[in-house]
Amino acid sequence: MKNLIDIIDLSVEEIDETIKLALDIIKNPTTYSHACDGKVLASLFFEASTRTRLSFESAMIKLGGGVISVPGAQISSISKGESIADTAKIVSCYSDIIAMRNPVEGSAYVLGQNASVPVINAGDGGHCHPTQTTADLLTIYRVMGRLENLKIGLCGDLLYGRTVHSLINAMNRYKGIKYVLISPKELSLPDYLKDKLDSDGVCYEEVESLEDAMPSLDVLYMTRIQRERFSDPAQYERLKNSYCLTKDKMNLAGEDMCLLHPLPRVNEISEKIDEDKRAYYFDQALNGRYMRMALILKLLRDNESFVNSIPAGTARHFVPDYIPEKYKGIAEVNVHKCTNPKCITQTEQELDHISINGRCLFCEQKTI
Ligand code: NCD
Repeated sequence: MKNLIDIIDLSVEEIDETIKLALDIIKNPTTYSHACDGKVLASLFFEASTRTRLSFESAMIKLGGGVISVPGAQISSISKGESIADTAKIVSCYSDIIAMRNPVEGSAYVLGQNASVPVINAGDGGHCHPTQTTADLLTIYRVMGRLENLKIGLCGDLLYGRTVHSLINAMNRYKGIKYVLISPKELSLPDYLKDKLDSDGVCYEEVESLEDAMPSLDVLYMTRIQRERFSDPAQYERLKNSYCLTKDKMNLAGEDMCLLHPLPRVNEISEKIDEDKRAYYFDQALNGRYMRMALILKLLRDNESFVNSIPAGTARHFVPDYIPEKYKGIAEVNVHKCTNPKCITQTEQELDHISINGRCLFCEQKTI
């Protein structure tokens, strides 16, 4: 694997191996404390972040490597109009691995195709957030002892919540998974993900009441209503208090339910619940560091020979090949256009529109 852009870039075997590696890092931290000596992580965060950025940076430092960072678009050349493709080529000159968060959907894919070092998507708008999912999976595994046969409640902003999108794409591939999708109608899961649930034959129901869903859940994954993604502030005001988990509501849950939240929380989980033994969201944040350590190690190892094939002292220039091998021949270039205003095709000037089975290659929204 060259880049981790979408959780589906990791096979189930690779997810399981990465979890194993993270568990070994937890047990034997000193074994790994020089594993990345001399390596540099470029940490590009063009959107707000506390956990993801700091856990990536702390992960690289714990592995013995160094970190260079651009904490904000305003102070990078993106603000001067530099493209993502050029940013990739430049940052590759100074780093061995790149983690980027960017509000533009599909931007990490373009960065990955143009970088000569591995790229990790640390969140691309409301689209996906694969490394948060790896933290979620490690937490579920450590708490429940399995990733199969689970009834998972996903509650809150399922439309814009990228952590939910990636978690679904991961869990769909495990046996016996059922989802209860708990959201107001306006914030229900995007169609492209419902289509995936249908085509993967995964059981799900859509409901609005958290209380009704609680008693039967093995895992409850709460999310924040994503204010920054709303185009209509009045709609956010109307929906912002849709769910608030209180002690009383927690009493409806089973004794062994695992309560997760990618954080930050606004008001979806009362602080009074923090002492409940079923609340695992702070462990989840810590698990994020272990999984990011494991992923950095994996990507550096997987790409050693590719990176070494670039002659020392030369910047690598190449023409990116955006269409994945399996879609060659069926992808339509510049025939059907993506109209999602938040997609990278709207901001990256020379990027072709690429449509596969009626959906944009970069953001997965419908093309016309
Ligand atoms: C999430 C994100 O950025 O998508 N946070 C995180 O990375 N832990 C969730 C959120 O912002 O609501």
